[in-house]
Amino acid sequence: MAIISSNIGDDFSFSKKELRLVDSKIIPEEKRNINLNLARPLTLKEFIGQEQLKTSLRIAIDASIIRKEPLEHTLLHGQPGLGKTTLAFLIAHEMNTKCKVATAPAIERPRDIVGLLLGLKEGEVLFIDEIHRLNKLTEELLYSAMEDFRLDLTMGANRGARCRTINLPKFTLIGATTKLASINAPLRDRFGISQKIEFYSNNELKQIVVNFARLINLNLDDEASYNLSKISRGTPRIALRLLRRVRDYAQVIVKTNVISKDLVKKALNSYQIDENGLDSLDRQYLSFLNLNQDIPIGLDSIAAGLGDDSSMLEFVVEPYLIQIGFLRRTPRGRLLTELGKKYINQKK
Ligand SMILES: Nc1ncnc2c1ncn2[C@@H]1O[C@H](COP(=O)(O)OP(=O)(O)OP(=O)(O)O)[C@@H](O)[C@H]1O
Ligand SMILES: [Mg+2]
Repeated sequence: MAIISSNIGDDFSFSKKELRLVDSKIIPEEKRNINLNLARPLTLKEFIGQEQLKTSLRIAIDASIIRKEPLEHTLLHGQPGLGKTTLAFLIAHEMNTKCKVATAPAIERPRDIVGLLLGLKEGEVLFIDEIHRLNKLTEELLYSAMEDFRLDLTMGANRGARCRTINLPKFTLIGATTKLASINAPLRDRFGISQKIEFYSNNELKQIVVNFARLINLNLDDEASYNLSKISRGTPRIALRLLRRVRDYAQVIVKTNVISKDLVKKALNSYQIDENGLDSLDRQYLSFLNLNQDIPIGLDSIAAGLGDDSSMLEFVVEPYLIQIGFLRRTPRGRLLTELGKKYINQKK
């Protein structure tokens, strides 16, 4: 087996103070997640939907607990807002261990990842969000850390270079990504478990909405919760965000915590979200395509025309427009469907 050893330069000496600095720079989210995100379920039982994923994870977690071993490294991939971060925390909770959090772009220097790995204790979880954005050196250090729980480091340069191997405690790396295809194969293959998170059905979203409403003391009727779920693009984050906006409207304008389907409609209209769940950006997008009638347009041209980020359009705006039959992606570019044209012409 090839040993990849990464040169981390001469500065490999962490005082306790430095390690804490590395931690506080890279793990700001850990603290934030404890209190602010009330809606994060902590056990697989409380986690709504994703039945196949939950069954596989349940077996893997129980097997690890029986064998008294850490869970195998786990890769979670799927669109934004579907529950990757939630699952990472949940897995650590189910394994009865701590979860340290880092986002890949914040792990700039080799010493950052070394610091994180050395800070882990046996069985702990290291969660790296946006793992497709790791730089090459960090990724190479992770190879032996993941496979053999060992760090192979080269310190110094040229003649003064010396190798050092450090054994690590057995840990679980959980990686999350919205871009599976951007992860290099050697890294991807080192995850023993790889799970895709799918969009949620309306009924599953409704359950998530109902649970959250209960948590924030809102009395939401059946139709209100279903109508909210229907326009939430299969995505819990959107459903919860819409519910919070409805709560604001209900509390400030109507002064009530009882939410009917009419109140949902009024509240969403006040935020320019229509009965299809489309907002002003969706409508700008559709109007832009409508200007060009039946000529397909490339994503970058649309992004430039709207002054928006192309990956935001690709991952947030387009999937839902395709899902409701308003948009088609063709090899030559994006096209409005007849349904899409009808909708946007009515809105003029
Ligand atoms: N199955 C679920 N049951 C209940 N709540 C959920 C579920 N999935 C996600 N949520 C809630 O939806 C919100 C978004 O989830 P989360 O932050 O885990 O998404 P993510 O996949 O990590 O998104 P991103 O790719 O943007 O980081 C959170 O408030 C979370 O509690
Ligand atoms: Mg996340």
